[in-house]
Amino acid sequence: MGSADHRSEPGAGASNPAFECRSVIVELLHKYNRKRIIENISLLVRSGEFLTIVGASGTGKTTLLRAMGGLTPTSGGSVLVHGKQLDGPPDDVVIVFQDYSNALLQWRTVASNVAFGIERRLDRKEVGQRVRDALALVGLEKNAEDYPWQLSGGMQQRVQIARALALRPAVMLMDEPFAALDAMTKASMQDELLRVRDRTGTSFVFITHDIEEAVYLGDRIVVLKGSPGRIEQVFDIGLPAPRDQLSTRQLPQFLEYRYAVHQAIGREHG
Ligand SMILES: Nc1ncnc2c1ncn2[C@@H]1O[C@H](COP(=O)(O)OP(=O)(O)OP(=O)(O)O)[C@@H](O)[C@H]1O
Ligand SMILES: [Mg+2]
Repeated sequence: MGSADHRSEPGAGASNPAFECRSVIVELLHKYNRKRIIENISLLVRSGEFLTIVGASGTGKTTLLRAMGGLTPTSGGSVLVHGKQLDGPPDDVVIVFQDYSNALLQWRTVASNVAFGIERRLDRKEVGQRVRDALALVGLEKNAEDYPWQLSGGMQQRVQIARALALRPAVMLMDEPFAALDAMTKASMQDELLRVRDRTGTSFVFITHDIEEAVYLGDRIVVLKGSPGRIEQVFDIGLPAPRDQLSTRQLPQFLEYRYAVHQAIGREHG
């Protein structure tokens, strides 16, 4: 089921990847020395693909995501969006972080938070339409005039996701976005993201510590390992669509993937 050779990329859509990492290396300063954080990361993300990334703490997942979003410069290799090399944060790639409470502007309404990234560059009509569409995608149409502090944690995270969606990104990069949510909210957010992907064709790169979440959401799972972090293995997840919280998680294949990914995260090199 898994493939150790992540450079042999899948056929469908591979000729038109939304996003690509070619032999990416990131080195950062650590106590006056350059420390290599990730190396030799090569990946294609297809249009509309849901790619999940797992790995032990410190394997460089966040660093990789920041490099993919143009926030951290690469020390080697390149990141390409629609075949064009990144030289800063690109317009059609957005990052959603875990910490939704700091990400939202508390003095702005939900609608005005969602408008934040587009209000300066689009006319009012277009902004209004996009805000309504994005709030509908995450099921918050009725909360447009609320303030973030009036919402639950899960709703605040949905506002952050709506804000990202309003940018109509080609690629959405997410760093453990549901880590702080309770199990039920997390499950409904997972399904919401899959619906958004189905409706918009956005590609997702989604980091999580939760192996079941990685299997449930992923078309493929990338396992990072080591220091510097490298791709240990890539799994193609052949679970039937649409995924369902109860029946998918009970499939024998689901349990097999969960086991195999668990093994890959823990397995020593060599
Ligand atoms: N700005 C930075 N400067 C120097 N070193 C950094 C910086 N950011 C991260 N590191 C180091 O890079 C390594 C990988 O960190 P990173 O945050 O990417 O890991 P991670 O896989 O996201 O971990 P976690 O699962 O705990 O979030 C760690 O050893 C960390 O100390
Ligand atoms: Mg991290």
